[in-house]
Amino acid sequence: MQTQHDRQTMLEALQDKASLRILALESSCDETAAAVVENGRRVLSNVIFSQVDLHALYGGVVPEIASRAHVDACDRVVDQALKEAGMALEDVDALAVTYGPGLVGALLTGVSCMKGLSYAAKRPLIPVNHIEGHVSANFLTTQDLEPPFVCLVVSGGHSHLVRVNDYGDYTLLGQTVDDAAGEAFDKAARVLGLTYPGGPQLSRLAQGGDDAYLSLPHPHADGPYDFSFSGLKTAFLNACHKMEQKGQPLPRADLAASFERAVVDTLCERSLAALEDSGLKTLCLAGGVSANRRLRQRMSEHAKRRRFRLCMPEVGLCTDNAAMIACAAYYRLRRGALADLTLNARPALRLV
Ligand code: KG4
Ligand code: ZN
Repeated sequence: MQTQHDRQTMLEALQDKASLRILALESSCDETAAAVVENGRRVLSNVIFSQVDLHALYGGVVPEIASRAHVDACDRVVDQALKEAGMALEDVDALAVTYGPGLVGALLTGVSCMKGLSYAAKRPLIPVNHIEGHVSANFLTTQDLEPPFVCLVVSGGHSHLVRVNDYGDYTLLGQTVDDAAGEAFDKAARVLGLTYPGGPQLSRLAQGGDDAYLSLPHPHADGPYDFSFSGLKTAFLNACHKMEQKGQPLPRADLAASFERAVVDTLCERSLAALEDSGLKTLCLAGGVSANRRLRQRMSEHAKRRRFRLCMPEVGLCTDNAAMIACAAYYRLRRGALADLTLNARPALRLV
């Protein structure tokens, strides 16, 4: 058994080390990913095994299939991440794992795998919040970034505006009152006949379209920094269904561009308001939707015009990966946040 005393000893041994290498595992949804990151900022390896093909058949993630695929892939991605970093398990200083939020079975697979490794290799285990991981992807891309800043987190399951006061210290400014931005993208994409996950495909389709083709409502939500995408989504679906009922061919590129514009405009508007009111000068983007070309372009234009600093993870680090988990883990470790072997999955874990 690993005792409190064992964990304290492991923690103290790490405190004097100039170089800390963390091996992290991410399995909260449909990617099994492992990475090794040095001192929270230098990615030594970043391996992602995507299950997208398995789930595309069903039009969305099937939790049971995801859990089984994670079981098959966990050991392999961990081995591959160590190999690509040129390391053995003994060379790793600490282990990290996403323990929430996400699909319970998927999370449990990763948590069990890393608890086993922690026990066998006698390395401390750091539990990481997936959303904190997304925010932390910014530290990997922008090496001199430090809190405080405002961060827009937009993924398949979350749409949050947070003030990052310090490492691990967040204030929730606003959030979606219904669908997440990525979820809205995926649903609109499905109506346009695109396979899961439709967000990136809708975005590609939109590139050749007229974004003024369909005028969509600008959704209103309760708070000044809250989002609502369900009215927008319904208006879009109704417009498409009406055209189909009349036997009109769908102008898919124009529809995709109009939808993308409406979502991006809302995200920009709320984020800019939150940034301005915060008095801060740095805005970060995070989560799968922050890979969106139009969002990145529009935000860059706003940043130039309004003279604030915009940070975005490189595109490959926007969607789920384990490098961002290892980065978040580094800053948690510095605060002494270790898990014991009773660590459990927390599917509804919150950031704040
Ligand atoms: O962060 P992520 O990989 O997983 C979650 O934590 O949910 O985000 C996945 C979401 C999906 O809904 C996907 O359609 C969306 O991010 N997404 C995009 C783009 N790339 C990924 N949405 C719009 N444009 C993109 N380029
Ligand atoms: Zn995610």
